[in-house]
Amino acid sequence: MKLTVKAKKSYDVYIEDKILSLKDYLDVSKRYFIVIDNNLPKAKLELFKEELENSSFYFLEAIEENKNLITVEVILEELLNQNFTKSDYLIGLGGGIIGDIAAFVASIYKRGMNYIYFPTSTTAMVDVAIGGKNGVNLLKNKNIIGTITPPAKVIVDLSFLESLPEKHYHNGLVEAIKMGMLFDKELFAIFEKKDFKNIKEIVVKSLKIKKQVVEQDEEDQDYRNLLNFGHTLAHAIEASSDYRISHGEAVAGGLLVDTINQDLKLKLETIFKALKIKYNYKLNLDKIKPYLYSDKKMKDEKIKIILLEDLEKYTIKYYSVDQYLELLKGA
Ligand SMILES: NC(=O)c1ccc[n+]([C@@H]2O[C@H](COP(=O)([O-])OP(=O)(O)OC[C@H]3O[C@@H](n4cnc5c(N)ncnc54)[C@H](O)[C@@H]3O)[C@@H](O)[C@H]2O)c1
Repeated sequence: MKLTVKAKKSYDVYIEDKILSLKDYLDVSKRYFIVIDNNLPKAKLELFKEELENSSFYFLEAIEENKNLITVEVILEELLNQNFTKSDYLIGLGGGIIGDIAAFVASIYKRGMNYIYFPTSTTAMVDVAIGGKNGVNLLKNKNIIGTITPPAKVIVDLSFLESLPEKHYHNGLVEAIKMGMLFDKELFAIFEKKDFKNIKEIVVKSLKIKKQVVEQDEEDQDYRNLLNFGHTLAHAIEASSDYRISHGEAVAGGLLVDTINQDLKLKLETIFKALKIKYNYKLNLDKIKPYLYSDKKMKDEKIKIILLEDLEKYTIKYYSVDQYLELLKGA
């Protein structure tokens, strides 16, 4: 199936069970620079090697420590040394880390080259695929440098998930749970039923929500901020733990703190337990505090926190960092 995102620039997002030929999606006569997650099984890369034979393959380890300006510079140098032009295509083939780095490079090389994304993890399929946000970390602050640049095309091949380790598969579902809580009770119900393998429906429902939000506020000026639900705290938890707490685990903790309805909190805990996601780690408020100050959504010294009163029912609060820390003490 195909979704078309009609924002600043329209682009198609294909969602397929298994892609057998790239010819249906790409002009295989063109030259591509492909940034590839080095954990992908070799067998899954054969199609790319066979059909995109004029292309360059650049392998990268998907760890947060590599999501930085040094990696960006190395890839930019490769592009330049290999004489890639603005009208050539850069492909990101991997999870969210590869997607964020590759899309950022594409958005700045020669002031912007064409970008195509093949997401390979659940996080990337349910979330990163739509919206054009990209970026890297700086001084451990998550995603602090980046752009919002729509891709030319996104191709979701669900069969990539066959090799994704269970921990990452489950972690990525937390972003879909977040979207269900904010916008779609039916999506949330899939998780309540523990129907975690119903991945096509989870991906399609999540991407339809993301499309709707991005079409209204692609630049993240206001409405799109809702998707930040649980994330102000999550980014601080993740960075202050030196990334020992994963993105999914950190978002799980953030969602629980920012859900003020006790019944819903219990339902969430049940889902996280079933997914074996750690969420009840101890919060070190002294370590978290400086990262709350570097929150990207900070305005007039206040952070914008989305609180969930019930499914599909949110309220927006503005707190100083100290006020929010007080709330955390009681959480
Ligand atoms: N730009 C956005 O809109 C957006 C949205 C959400 C998250 N993010 C970012 O995404 C990142 C998290 O993404 P993630 O959860 O995909 O993590 P990730 O990219 O670290 O991937 C998780 C792990 O799975 C491996 N992997 C990925 N696909 C695989 C596959 N098909 N088979 C085997 N192994 C595979 C990776 O090598 C890595 O070890 C964070 O950096 C977060 O900030 C960006």
